[in-house]
Amino acid sequence: MKLICDTVESCARLAAARYQRLLNEKPDAVLGLATGSTPEPLYRELIRLNKAGALSFARAATYNLDEYVGLRGDHPQSYRYFMDDRLFDHVDIKKENTHVPDGLHTTAENAADYDQAIAAAGGIDLQLLGIGPNGHIGFNEPGGPWNSRTHIADLSDSTRQANKRFFSSIDDVPTQAISMGIMTIMHARSILVLAFGPAKAQAVAAMVKGPVDPACPASILQLHPDVTVFADEEAAALV
Ligand code: PGA
Repeated sequence: MKLICDTVESCARLAAARYQRLLNEKPDAVLGLATGSTPEPLYRELIRLNKAGALSFARAATYNLDEYVGLRGDHPQSYRYFMDDRLFDHVDIKKENTHVPDGLHTTAENAADYDQAIAAAGGIDLQLLGIGPNGHIGFNEPGGPWNSRTHIADLSDSTRQANKRFFSSIDDVPTQAISMGIMTIMHARSILVLAFGPAKAQAVAAMVKGPVDPACPASILQLHPDVTVFADEEAAALV
């Protein structure tokens, strides 16, 4: 696992350069994408590069990590809405090549179909991850199994608290999500983790140098052969 510590802006530029390289080498790359506050500087940089003609998503496909159960894609807090608003509507990607788990049809069969669709697309070339203050990746919360595939996940109280800033009250925060599993994530060929701000410092330290333990789901990434973590000084403070 490689850790690069720099400013948020530099991390976003360096991470965007990885996408530029990948998409230039493999224009039909399969990208695993993430939502939350953390990837926003990267998405702004990708939009800038796309508009400047430095990179194209025209042949790329994307698979997002997760979606809230019960939210339609046009709900402003749904992850489909987020992705359209923050990235897809501003770049040359074909909407039909973008995939976010369906928050309204959350049967085990639909979850399994998501993994199958990823496999049928050739597998994920580059998976983007944020990390929760509790060490979650996607909505794989502490204590969950290592061998999970896409599944319906119960959100921990701390995750609902962390995400309530986007909703009018804690009661409006969904209690479940459909999320890629740990195994889905570990099958990606390469992984980029972004972590910014002091609230992520403990989770980043546990991910990078703690024991590989379900108490910090991100610690499993120590066993993946190609992970790069981009963190600012606050998030890397305890490493
Ligand atoms: P954030 O979420 O980017 O909004 O901090 C990250 C996560 O919970 O994975």
